[in-house]
Amino acid sequence: MATDTTVQSFNSSHDVLILGSGAAGLTCALHLPQSLRVAVVSKGELAGGSTLYAQGGISAVLDQGDSLASHIQDTLAAGDGLCREKAVKFAVTEGPDAVRWLINQGVPFTADNNSKTEGLHLTREGGHSHRRVIHAEDRTGKAVETTLEALTRQAPNIEVFEHHLAIDLIVDHEGEETRCAGAWLLNQQTGNVTTLSANATVLACGGANMVYRYSSNPHSSTGDGIAMAWRAGCRIANMEFMQFHPTCLYHPSARGFLLTEAIRGEGGKLLLPDGTRFMESYHPQAELAPRDIVARAIDAEMKKCGAEHIWLDISHRDESFIKEHFPGVYERCMELGLDMTKEPLPVVPAAHYTCGGVLTDLQGRTDLAQLYAVGETASTGLHGANRMASNSLLECIVYGRAAAKNIASRDLDESNKPAPHWDDSRVSEEDEAVIVSHNWHELRKLMWDYVGIVRSNDRLERAQNRLSLLRKEIEDYYSKYRVSPDFIELRNLLQVADLIVKSAAIRKESRGLHFNRDYPEKRPGARATVLTPANTASYSNTPEW
Ligand code: FAD
Ligand code: SIN
Repeated sequence: MATDTTVQSFNSSHDVLILGSGAAGLTCALHLPQSLRVAVVSKGELAGGSTLYAQGGISAVLDQGDSLASHIQDTLAAGDGLCREKAVKFAVTEGPDAVRWLINQGVPFTADNNSKTEGLHLTREGGHSHRRVIHAEDRTGKAVETTLEALTRQAPNIEVFEHHLAIDLIVDHEGEETRCAGAWLLNQQTGNVTTLSANATVLACGGANMVYRYSSNPHSSTGDGIAMAWRAGCRIANMEFMQFHPTCLYHPSARGFLLTEAIRGEGGKLLLPDGTRFMESYHPQAELAPRDIVARAIDAEMKKCGAEHIWLDISHRDESFIKEHFPGVYERCMELGLDMTKEPLPVVPAAHYTCGGVLTDLQGRTDLAQLYAVGETASTGLHGANRMASNSLLECIVYGRAAAKNIASRDLDESNKPAPHWDDSRVSEEDEAVIVSHNWHELRKLMWDYVGIVRSNDRLERAQNRLSLLRKEIEDYYSKYRVSPDFIELRNLLQVADLIVKSAAIRKESRGLHFNRDYPEKRPGARATVLTPANTASYSNTPEW
């Protein structure tokens, strides 16, 4: 494809364009004043993304016996020296109010007759030294996403574009000024490309966890927001810190189905094939150690005894307790013939969360004027080298609101300039979709095998060599054929894989989620990995790390 450099009339124009309709995108949309015309774009159904599948909950200090200082301390400890302290303080301090906003919108959180916790049931997860995870049974994401979806559909100022896939951001250069002027969207039902111009654009596209062969995420997590921001000239931070969730179901029909950490929070034990516990020898918090430690311990134990999975056992708790607290997991397991009230469940780690992303400040602003990033796409600095459980939905709500406030405070009066049309007149229909599907599998397998839980210099070099071959093929394909959704996602996954491998190769130590066998120690003086694209030079916003 190529864009026509001559300026033509645009298809559609809004004050604010939000790419992504998970917790981050919808929170941002619902906090914008009704005087602004807002477009919310989703490449699938409006209710989707990882948010819909979130199980455990949202962390926030609501128990009178808990404290903001303790939540801050736990987050910094999990982040292993790399959190940006002001981003942590901001998220934690705003947390209780963000949760109250969700309650006021009607999210049905699980209640508890306890006046000291504002009447909410709080569960516990890895890394938290206190019970502070607010949840809706084990289907928190569904409760949040469907509530926000209904409100979005009712809002008179919000126009929804479902099944529209953003291909790239429109970057407008005028004199000294460079800004984001909107995005090109592929309508997946008609195949047409729409030019949607806006005075503020928000990337809320979720993470990039589909870059790995096994993942807990839905198909949508293909790193589109991160790849589009990189191509538009934004800096990307800390991509080597990809989080693997320790306990995903090992089952041929449901590989990657998450078994929430709250199961361990409520007493679930990890067992070797012979039934022995092992986590106590890895960390004083045993099963509730930070995720990187649990996932690596499982990986090491599986390799040691040649097992294809280990076990997660909560069958010692009352049947009624299990059914009441984990109805979603219980029902899914029963469909698969597994009864968690009576037997342990087979589990393996799988790619779960992208800690790095588009570098932003505390208002979600990126390097490029008029471009914001929120939620899993962004790197605010909250998670550092390892995200603590349930801090992600917290980040989506807190930073979604902060970005909306910043956009509302700006003067968006200037009328949209016509943006360039997408021009695919010089390319033809793809003739061999097998190239795309083959490369999807090859990429995800090579990332799993070479850039997974444990890395080495040799594996990273092999990954880099293979990625450069794939890149040549993809560029060649892009110059010849009309884009398809699978191709756009593959191109983005490849871009993100490249950023992950480059970042991992730069880090000559092991820290948080990044473990390199050739540098097993942590070096003094933690430093973020910030990659800068070649086309950044003239950009005006520059959030500091
Ligand atoms: P998402 O919810 O992933 O939404 C992304 C949106 O962007 C989607 O609407 C998608 O269609 C759209 N999109 C993507 N690319 C494009 C494109 N090119 N064009 C148009 N639209 C696009 N975190 C917690 O804090 N607590 C939990 O209990 C928890 N449990 C989890 C359980 C599971 C199974 C998973 C997968 C994750 C869990 N997480 C949890 C992580 C958390 O759910 C996510 O980090 C969070 O929901 C991300 O929200 P988001 O709004 O940034 O993105
Ligand atoms: C889970 O429920 O285990 C997921 C929690 C999270 O990823 O924050």
